[in-house]
Amino acid sequence: TDPLRIGIIGLGTVGGGVLKLLETNAALITRRAGRPLVVAAVSARNRTRERGVDLSAFAWEDDPVALARRDDVDLVVEAMGGEDGPAKAATEAALGAGKHVVTANKAMLAHHGQALAEAAEASGAALRFEAAVAGGIPCVKALGEGMAGNRITRLMGVLNGTCNYILTRMEAGGEPYAEVLEDAQRLGYAEADPSFDVGGTDAAHKLALMAALAFGTRVDFDGVKTEGIDQVRLADIAHAAEMGYRIKLLGVARMHGDGLEQRMQPCLTPAGSPIGKLEGVTNMVVLESDFAGRTVYEGPGAGAGPTASAIAADMIDIARGARTPAFGIPAAQLRAAPRATGGAP
Ligand code: NAP
Ligand code: HSE
Repeated sequence: TDPLRIGIIGLGTVGGGVLKLLETNAALITRRAGRPLVVAAVSARNRTRERGVDLSAFAWEDDPVALARRDDVDLVVEAMGGEDGPAKAATEAALGAGKHVVTANKAMLAHHGQALAEAAEASGAALRFEAAVAGGIPCVKALGEGMAGNRITRLMGVLNGTCNYILTRMEAGGEPYAEVLEDAQRLGYAEADPSFDVGGTDAAHKLALMAALAFGTRVDFDGVKTEGIDQVRLADIAHAAEMGYRIKLLGVARMHGDGLEQRMQPCLTPAGSPIGKLEGVTNMVVLESDFAGRTVYEGPGAGAGPTASAIAADMIDIARGARTPAFGIPAAQLRAAPRATGGAP
């Protein structure tokens, strides 16, 4: 059987994790995909950087767009990041050439998801982004496929691993978040600009993507009311604990009569509740639906292994022939939902 030939843009935490996973689980993946997944080419900024992985078997491209246009690449893994710039240019180039794209880039999708989904459908390519939301939790698949027969009434999520890691460490050790943030960066959890994490923007990107999948609406990132954890102080955490609560950065999206409500903000959660018990980099997604009821998904929300796992799942799906629309239904049918004016927090 013909291999699926992969080009990887970005060899940092995520791209490096993908290379490691493809090598470690090659035989298993070939069996599950029905064909081998073979890395043909890679791209990063610095060709000579030591990455702890042998790149000699792969073609190197300095330019991500050139990689996306290579004849020997069928599927591009975009693991570079950035809302616009080369990540978007390479994604557009790949989709325009009919090549599949698997991306971890929630910033790009939160702003350009609609146009990119349309571009994919126009060329018959697949655009998949399991890795962009909640790390190793397969919640895009849950929303787009597993729960596809349900009407989602509400979704909630702890969607940023860095924030939950910081809050947990602050509680445990009384350390200020600036110091703990450095550890989150060292562990590969944080965004290139960590203000996206602590300011709530990264989690809001993810919430907007999930809401589009859940409600069949166009991605509306600007409609997310967003507040981060950067104003949370040790004293706030201590006061919450005295009352039996923990502070979590929690997202909620639901459809009201008058429109879509999307909020991302620090919330007091009962310490004994499922969300209140989350530790470290863990994320949680809660879906409430008309027939399945309440389903809950928990797992590591950031880092090389969980993110690579999500990217591998998308690649295997595409290798099997799946061409599910990026947001579950064809892009042209996604509705532009008005923003809810009221609604309880
Ligand atoms: P990272 O460790 O900083 O890696 C970024 C990679 O992109 C680096 O290899 C870098 O090259 C390369 N790169 C940057 N600009 C480039 C350019 N102009 N041309 C070619 N390559 C370029 O970042 P990351 O944590 O892997 O995150 C990558 C993406 O995944 C982001 O969209 C992020 O939001 C998303 N994501 C991350 C995680 C996570 O846990 N880290 C989880 C889910 C999603 P050099 O190595 O040469 O500098
Ligand atoms: N910076 C993100 C987080 C990476 O901490 O959740 C995973 O999307």
